[in-house]
Amino acid sequence: MLKLVERVARSNAAVLTTGESGTGKELIARAIHHYSMRCSRAWVDLKCAMPPELLLESELFGYEKGALRGAAATKPGLLELSNTGSVFLDEIGELPPRMQVKLLSLDGEPYYRLGGTRKISVDSRVIAATNADLEKALKEGSFRRDLYHSVAQVEIKVPPLRERTADIAPLQMSAR
Ligand SMILES: Nc1ncnc2c1ncn2[C@@H]1O[C@H](COP(=O)(O)OP(=O)(O)OP(=O)(O)O)[C@@H](O)[C@H]1O
Ligand SMILES: [Mg+2]
Repeated sequence: MLKLVERVARSNAAVLTTGESGTGKELIARAIHHYSMRCSRAWVDLKCAMPPELLLESELFGYEKGALRGAAATKPGLLELSNTGSVFLDEIGELPPRMQVKLLSLDGEPYYRLGGTRKISVDSRVIAATNADLEKALKEGSFRRDLYHSVAQVEIKVPPLRERTADIAPLQMSAR
């Protein structure tokens, strides 16, 4: 897995890390950014499970002054802030259906901030993580297959520690 991490880091591929809770998906995602050509650029973290949906949308795409209640000033979205760097879509399995569509239609295309009239272009690398059973979600239709293919150009399955017990001792050492 670490060899794959090293190899994939240097590419610009969209990577999805999957595995049980606490296995180190975020750690691996950060390692990919760290070993990539974008390492000196932004690392922006979006919690896809964040309710309510409008907040998630405005976090990701940003908004213009007055576009929403309480939008006293224009705010760039996390996508914009991750330009030339990486955007980490954490818990992507929790993304509501409408946001899945919005994200899919993005696919490197310019987009509007909420209430915006000027298109924003970004060049961000997508790295995502999920502990959800995406296979099941894909079968049930609650997660879009086209979005899955776009965010999981490479999928890295992070095994739980009980399947790599040899890692326990070095981890204990590093925790000291
Ligand atoms: N190989 C490792 N070496 C040192 N610390 C690790 C390692 N793997 C995971 N950790 C630590 O374990 C904790 C959980 O890791 P991480 O947040 O990456 O897991 P996760 O898979 O994203 O979990 P969740 O599904 O709960 O979000 C973190 O505090 C992280 O620093
Ligand atoms: Mg995590």
